Amino acid sequence: QTADSLFIINAFAQKFYAQKLLETEEGQTNGLSYLKERGFNKDIIQKFGLGYAPDGRDALTKEAIAAQYNSELLQKTGLVVERNGQLQDNYRDRIIFPIHNNSGKVIGFGARLIKKNDKAPKYINTPENELYVKSKLLYGTYFARQAIDKADECFLVEGYTDVLSLHQAGIENVVASGGTSLTQDQLRLIKKYTSNLTIIYDGDAAGVKAALRGLDMALEESLNVKLVLIPDGEDPDSYVRKVGEKRFREFVQENKKDFILFQLDVLLKDAGNDGAKKADVVNQVAETLSKIDKTEDFTKQQDYIRQCADTLKIDEAGFTALVNKFIR
Ligand code: UTP
Ligand code: MN
Ligand code: MN
Ligand code: MN
Ligand code: MN
Repeated sequence: QTADSLFIINAFAQKFYAQKLLETEEGQTNGLSYLKERGFNKDIIQKFGLGYAPDGRDALTKEAIAAQYNSELLQKTGLVVERNGQLQDNYRDRIIFPIHNNSGKVIGFGARLIKKNDKAPKYINTPENELYVKSKLLYGTYFARQAIDKADECFLVEGYTDVLSLHQAGIENVVASGGTSLTQDQLRLIKKYTSNLTIIYDGDAAGVKAALRGLDMALEESLNVKLVLIPDGEDPDSYVRKVGEKRFREFVQENKKDFILFQLDVLLKDAGNDGAKKADVVNQVAETLSKIDKTEDFTKQQDYIRQCADTLKIDEAGFTALVNKFIR
């Protein structure tokens, strides 16, 4: 019941913002020109239903109230907030990214700053409500499903604009995590479409850490996880714009690392010559390997045990026993 009403309000808001972006002077000057400067074309802007939130105090709120939408529900969507006893627009002078569920209905929004402003967050997202549960959704699944199915591979990137740019370049099997660590629910969602997950994150330390946190969970879902780090200072959006589709695809192929072996490398580098730390690495890797679903993939686990024992320069039989200790 509430969910149905929230869908209706979100659909109204999506239309409102898109109309402002495409058909008003304010939207064209402040919003559309920004998107054009970043290189997004009209097709992609319309496909993803992007919009512009006007700078006024209550542009959307006024229309929503006039259309008789319930004020409590309006606040639930996060589109409208109460300040000093007045209902006002939450998003102002921002680019609006609608977030769709798998049947193409809008469940929430991401709203990006246009003008540089150190005091405001770059993106504001919909608060958790009956439709928008961040830990259970991935941005772009609705537009990516067919392509994921066809490629039997899902690319996972960090942000909204990464998804858009890759689509514009003709790479459509891509979804975004929204910059946070992956959850089990999100991994299950991917597993419904494919077993092959390729994480394409920014090459900075934060990107690597965010990626590593999802590894054990991904193995529990029997996903084959590969990792590609985009060169420092770039993200998939800027990088595909720079090098084009063909080179981007080549880069991904050439730089795909097996995620388990990548984690081992990172941990070993961290440990250096510290014996105690190295022992921790052995334990941690054993625990990771124990997460591989043996019923589904027994030889896969054995192969990894062999490769990791080799890299760690430890006895394979002893290491196998350690891995088995973590299985229950
Ligand atoms: P990034 O900071 O990498 O942004 O955050 P971006 O996607 O590259 O966006 P542009 O290119 O600067 O426009 C990655 C993702 O993390 C979430 C958003 O989903 C964003 O796309 N994020 C980031 C937030 O939710 N809030 C923020 O303030 C920043
Ligand atoms: Mn980053
Ligand atoms: Mn399983
Ligand atoms: Mn970016
Ligand atoms: Mn980014």
